[in-house]
Amino acid sequence: MKPFDNRPIGIFDSGLGGLTVAAALQHKLPGEAVAYLGDTARVPYGDKSVDAIIRFAHQDVEFMLSRGVKLVIAACNTVSAVALDSLKRDYPDRIILGVIDSGVRAVIDSGVERVAVIGTRATINSDAYRRGIHAADCSIRVESIACPLLVPLAEEGVTSGAIVPAVFDLYLGRLRNDPPDALLLGCTHYPLFAEALNDYFDGKVRILDSATACAKYTAEFLCEHHIAAHPGNTPSFGCFVTDMPSEFHRHATRFLGRAPGRVERINLA
Ligand code: DGL
Repeated sequence: MKPFDNRPIGIFDSGLGGLTVAAALQHKLPGEAVAYLGDTARVPYGDKSVDAIIRFAHQDVEFMLSRGVKLVIAACNTVSAVALDSLKRDYPDRIILGVIDSGVRAVIDSGVERVAVIGTRATINSDAYRRGIHAADCSIRVESIACPLLVPLAEEGVTSGAIVPAVFDLYLGRLRNDPPDALLLGCTHYPLFAEALNDYFDGKVRILDSATACAKYTAEFLCEHHIAAHPGNTPSFGCFVTDMPSEFHRHATRFLGRAPGRVERINLA
């Protein structure tokens, strides 16, 4: 058994959102190289049909595997909720992780009694979070709310200002007078609203985020399976998109916390 594995971790999302997972991962595991794919030609996935999301996800994984990655993270709640079973079935010899299990673990570990899960329409319609939470603890009260406008707002860089609480009112207004113990950010774009959400609920609701939880879970997984990079490894960060590389580069810093370096345009078809 090899004690270290310096091959990159493949991370993909429909667009910029998965960079929140990449940032959390490289913060926790600074020696890990990352190959990131954003399917910017087809973002958002959250409003697409299940068939389309599964088809796109397979193409994303094929590309990631072509980059020689040691494992693939579907850093998209929509893909994880809708397509992960299909991906695992079709790539039985590959390691493919999603973000739903991590989010579920974050809820269970927090010990809360009532949680509101927010995500894209496809994620909420799949009921994946409620099922996962109730499989672990059926006494937890779970409310699931789709917040589709938050993804385009995050992609546009509008995460503060008057429009943001107005959009929160639209989806979360009813929770304001009767707040849950925690709010689970079940979309990789939503960590950008963590501060605004905290203000919106006057700091009374604990914000849990599947991106941070995924980084923690992946770190444990790498150690358990002896495939972590050597601590002295100088990591690379390769960025690939299916459209508009310069737009991606311009917005990526907000999601990643630093400039992403060169962004290469690729074709998945
Ligand atoms: N990043 C995706 C997710 O976590 C949402 C964006 C999209 O709809 O494509 O669900």
